[in-house]
Amino acid sequence: MIGINDLLGFLANVIFIYFPAMAANGSPVFIRRGTPIDLGKIFLDGRRVLGDGKTYEGLLVGIMFGTGVGSIYAAAFNSSAYVIYSLVSSIGALLGDIIGAFIKRRLGIPRGAPAPLLDQLSFYLFANLLVKITALDRSIGHVIGLWEFMVGAVIVYILHISTNWGAYKLGIKSVPY
Ligand code: CTP
Ligand code: MG
Repeated sequence: MIGINDLLGFLANVIFIYFPAMAANGSPVFIRRGTPIDLGKIFLDGRRVLGDGKTYEGLLVGIMFGTGVGSIYAAAFNSSAYVIYSLVSSIGALLGDIIGAFIKRRLGIPRGAPAPLLDQLSFYLFANLLVKITALDRSIGHVIGLWEFMVGAVIVYILHISTNWGAYKLGIKSVPY
């Protein structure tokens, strides 16, 4: 029998694993105006490559916050492996977010307009991909299995929607999604 404590422990573990990536993905929202990564360039289809929502400043803030979470883990558990894990997970998250924006622009969806699933999960997929390719999940002793991945996707989806709504209510974001 699986008890309530096992379940809560599992959920806490999933949030723990993905919190650096979530911090990396969410923190760039504080960048009001920055230098676009695509430098304003237009793609073959006549639309922006990425758009004004992806900036270098956002990348920097995302790396700092994501790796910052990992540094707190490292201090708390006395293991530097968390720093490199969170750095790679954050790079994956930011890369996935950029690829998501690239896909949105190709589909003709303007910067900031909603793209269900893509908006919430592109960062998540690439954070997982990079961590798995480098086997850094193993290095921190939290091997990500299919269950962790699937439950994490649901948690990330719900958190993404609720935090964006919260950021909108607080006036940090101009749209609630
Ligand atoms: N942001 C940034 N640099 C990044 C990622 C995000 O500066 N690399 C900032 C932008 O101000 C962006 C905000 O965080 O508007 C919210 O991020 P996100 O929702 O991912 O961007 P959108 O504005 O929705 O743009 P897109 O449609 O391209 O995803
Ligand atoms: Mg958005």
